[in-house]
Amino acid sequence: MDAIVLLKEDHKTVEALFKRFEQAGERAHVEKRKIVETITKELVTHAYIEEEIFYPAARAKVPATGDHVLESVEEHHVVVWMLSELKDLDPADERFTAKVTVLMENVRHHVKEEEQDWFPQVRAAMGRKELQELGERMAKAKTDAPTDPLAVRSARS
Ligand SMILES: [Fe+2]
Ligand SMILES: [Fe+2]
Repeated sequence: MDAIVLLKEDHKTVEALFKRFEQAGERAHVEKRKIVETITKELVTHAYIEEEIFYPAARAKVPATGDHVLESVEEHHVVVWMLSELKDLDPADERFTAKVTVLMENVRHHVKEEEQDWFPQVRAAMGRKELQELGERMAKAKTDAPTDPLAVRSARS
């Protein structure tokens, strides 16, 4: 699978989960907890394959977008720390939905920048074959992703 197609599919999966969270009732604590667990699994896996495979490969190929990659890693950093805080936060806590809302704002902003500004530049610089190979590596690497948000590289950056 093409690397950029794979990443965009992940983004769509996460957006669908965000919508489910937004539609959940205010007191649907059990459901909200479950959705956040799924969001965490998806985002940690996605951040892992981006940071381990896609970001370094894209940065090497399009050095001019190095600043974008560095900012992206900082955005991942904020997201994985928020995910780790959510793990220990009771969904009945008044801060829970507020924290998820800010997390969603951050991720939506991040995804928009990846898809609108950056992916097209990477696609233009990489051939179809290279994108296919990267995509295959990322699809395989998903099974190696950690479950702990703070085990992702950007957590320590
Ligand atoms: Fe990202
Ligand atoms: Fe992404």
